[in-house]
Amino acid sequence: MRMSRTNRLTTQPSGPLRGLVRVPGDKSISHRALLLGALAEGACHVSGFLPAGDCLATLTCLRAMGVEIEIPVPGPSTSQRGAEPTTLVIHGRGLCGLREPAAPLDCARSGTTMRLLAGILAGQSFPSTLTGDPQLLRRPMRRIVEPLRRMGAEIADADGHAPLSIRGRALHGRDHTLAVASAQVKSALLLAGLYADGPTTVRQPGPARDHTERMLAAMGAAIETEDLTVTLNPSSSLSPLPIRVPGDISSAAFPLVAAALLPGSEITVEEVGVNPTRTGLLDVLQTMGADIAVGNERQQRSEPVADVTIRASDLRGVEVGGDTVVRMIDEFPVLAVAATQVHGITVVRDAAELRVKETDRIAAIVVELRALGARIDPLPDGFIVEGPTPLHGATVDSHGDHRLAMALTVAGLIAEDGVVVENAGCIADSFPGFVELLRGVGAEVLTAEASYD
Ligand code: S3P
Repeated sequence: MRMSRTNRLTTQPSGPLRGLVRVPGDKSISHRALLLGALAEGACHVSGFLPAGDCLATLTCLRAMGVEIEIPVPGPSTSQRGAEPTTLVIHGRGLCGLREPAAPLDCARSGTTMRLLAGILAGQSFPSTLTGDPQLLRRPMRRIVEPLRRMGAEIADADGHAPLSIRGRALHGRDHTLAVASAQVKSALLLAGLYADGPTTVRQPGPARDHTERMLAAMGAAIETEDLTVTLNPSSSLSPLPIRVPGDISSAAFPLVAAALLPGSEITVEEVGVNPTRTGLLDVLQTMGADIAVGNERQQRSEPVADVTIRASDLRGVEVGGDTVVRMIDEFPVLAVAATQVHGITVVRDAAELRVKETDRIAAIVVELRALGARIDPLPDGFIVEGPTPLHGATVDSHGDHRLAMALTVAGLIAEDGVVVENAGCIADSFPGFVELLRGVGAEVLTAEASYD
């Protein structure tokens, strides 16, 4: 028996949202804690790990290669303040201690799992295959396969897509200039660089998230960043590290935007990551006139964290493009929802990457928000929204994309009557406890029982 993905959420128009919340751990940092922890020389203790579908795919793949990972405090259990943090102990096997997996490694729907693991596997002394959910098999992999091949990797792909069959071997350091500002591509190449015979340089066109570089440096790797260029020198070992994963700002985006839009709301999200490569949405909301305070900013190991408070206020349209896009690449579905409620026109450009995420997020958000009455048009590399427009009730679909599902749930809270979000089960890919957290601050969200087939 398999749980089908037909779960649905029903929202009702909601009053002000109020409260102090914590969102689950950062997805990108949780993946990196697992991967780098597995390659370190000894035990890494991780707190605040995100026990969501995408990160659990990485965990399962590593276990299949002989990495022992203990979960002494399992999650997620949800409280009024959101998911309780999950603690892990990863028993690192050293850079060359992974074992050949007995079967293809299943990356589920997680692009980060597949792309970062490909970099590591390219340098191993054994063959492996990376596969996943049909949704992931549709996503572009040439962006990692080609530069990894330039380093000497032997990878067979399916016309630029997974499954990827990797025959691990000794790699060469190379100087790469990326066509897209992608942290997944950058990280895959840096991880492969751990196994190279010389320096690996990655030149990025924009400031993609730098969690890999920060964690590698903290573990003792010889890595340097100058502007948008990162250089890694081969290391013989990585030192284990206690890691505390901050709350995920990409998850915080949903309650923050909902509170910005629902009159009378005030929400604080505690201990959320505010790495400057991730805070584009906060800057854009500020430009739109949002009442945001970023307080108690502090350094938590290698990442900055803060408590972010937002109060509802009147917002105006905004133009978003350039580097800001890279710094908020996962936040555009919920920005589009906000744009339907603000005064004036919002234009997003330079965001063609949205077309190759879990779904084509430009096409999908346009179709679904139009079904709710929004005035939104696609652009080849973004979208235009005319606000403010009252949204009405309808049934919408997540397209199997967790961020679409959550953005449409936020749309449901501000709509004039109930909204049904079909295929909402994918929310668990990144945000366990999403519905409970929203309910805890006063939102009206119901879930239908999961069905089985
Ligand atoms: C991620 C990088 C981003 C982001 C994804 C997570 C990461 O993808 O969209 O959700 O953890 O490196 P790209 O690097 O492909 O832009």
